[in-house]
Amino acid sequence: MYSKITGLGYYVPDNVVTNHDLTQLMETSDEWIRERTGIGERRFFTYGKETNASMATAASRQAIERAGLQPSDIEMIVYATITPDYFFPGSGFLMQRELDLIGIPVIDIREQCSGFVYALSIADQYIKSGAYKTILVVGAEIQSTWTDKSTKGRNVAVIFGDGAGAAVVQATPDPTHRVLSTHLHADGRFAEDLYIKEPGSSRPTRAATHEMIDEGGFDVVMNGNAVFKHAVVRFAEAINEALQANGCQSSDISLLVPHQANIRISEFVRQQMGLREDQVYNNIHKFGNTTAASIPIALCEAWEEGRVKEGDLVCLAAFGSGFTWASALIRW
Ligand code: ACO
Repeated sequence: MYSKITGLGYYVPDNVVTNHDLTQLMETSDEWIRERTGIGERRFFTYGKETNASMATAASRQAIERAGLQPSDIEMIVYATITPDYFFPGSGFLMQRELDLIGIPVIDIREQCSGFVYALSIADQYIKSGAYKTILVVGAEIQSTWTDKSTKGRNVAVIFGDGAGAAVVQATPDPTHRVLSTHLHADGRFAEDLYIKEPGSSRPTRAATHEMIDEGGFDVVMNGNAVFKHAVVRFAEAINEALQANGCQSSDISLLVPHQANIRISEFVRQQMGLREDQVYNNIHKFGNTTAASIPIALCEAWEEGRVKEGDLVCLAAFGSGFTWASALIRW
């Protein structure tokens, strides 16, 4: 058995936050943000209306319907997020409850911006092993509560947005139209180059203290230069690894759907790989960087626009905190 994506869905909050809106909160400008990141606007969730799990549930319902299935057909959930509703258990359990799938296994993973590709790889292994036939793979994030939207946190706050994407992955005997391979990597030496320290467990006290907050323990710390430098190398490595594993060349790629980190990173990778603009899908201008949700949202949008068709060679590639990097090659 092989695995195949049979349904895609996504959900983004309808609260659009433009670069101009951010200028009311911090010293920044539309020009600075667009030039450095490619972002024009992003979505922020509305407290009391959306949660990480509710957005994932909406995306999943759409993916399940498009696969021609009922929620009760799902046998396992693999849910990627670094911004769960609770410290524990993960949001996958809340979504399972919402979809009334009591009893099926839920695997909650983090893996940051590479979360969706890691989750897809886990689903692919379970399907190839014969253990399950229908798995729901999700990436969902609410980043807007974590970012410091004052001038102090502006280098990070302007980048991130909220949203969720989902894919139904099913077993298929078809050796052609399927997930061809997935490739996962990590390098913990750079863990602190992109991280949030708190709430951590290895601390002298039980609860969050004012010192932890004052020292920036709850802020996103990003070494932007290090992220950029590593990302452009690892993205290309991951894509080349997927191509080589399947005897393909970059010219064979119908569509590359990269994690929407920053348009400058995507553009650098596109040029490095010798890809035309129409071979790479970007929607960061509309949604910002939604971490684990960015690839499934982009893939779903591309599919809705008719840019992912039967027979196409689709490459997913990610780089993120950890550092992690990963790719998947799919013959649609
Ligand atoms: N608006 C206006 N000015 C800003 C802003 C902002 N939002 N943010 C930072 N600045 C200022 C800084 O204060 C600084 O001013 P100074 O020179 O007077 O001190 C100047 O701009 C440069 O600041 P840096 O923090 O060094 O910003 P940089 O030019 O590196 O750009 C950016 C920041 C765009 C994030 C850059 O580091 C980058 O492209 N990094 C790549 C990593 C990345 O994209 N991460 C995103 C997600 S991570 C992931 O998905 C894997």
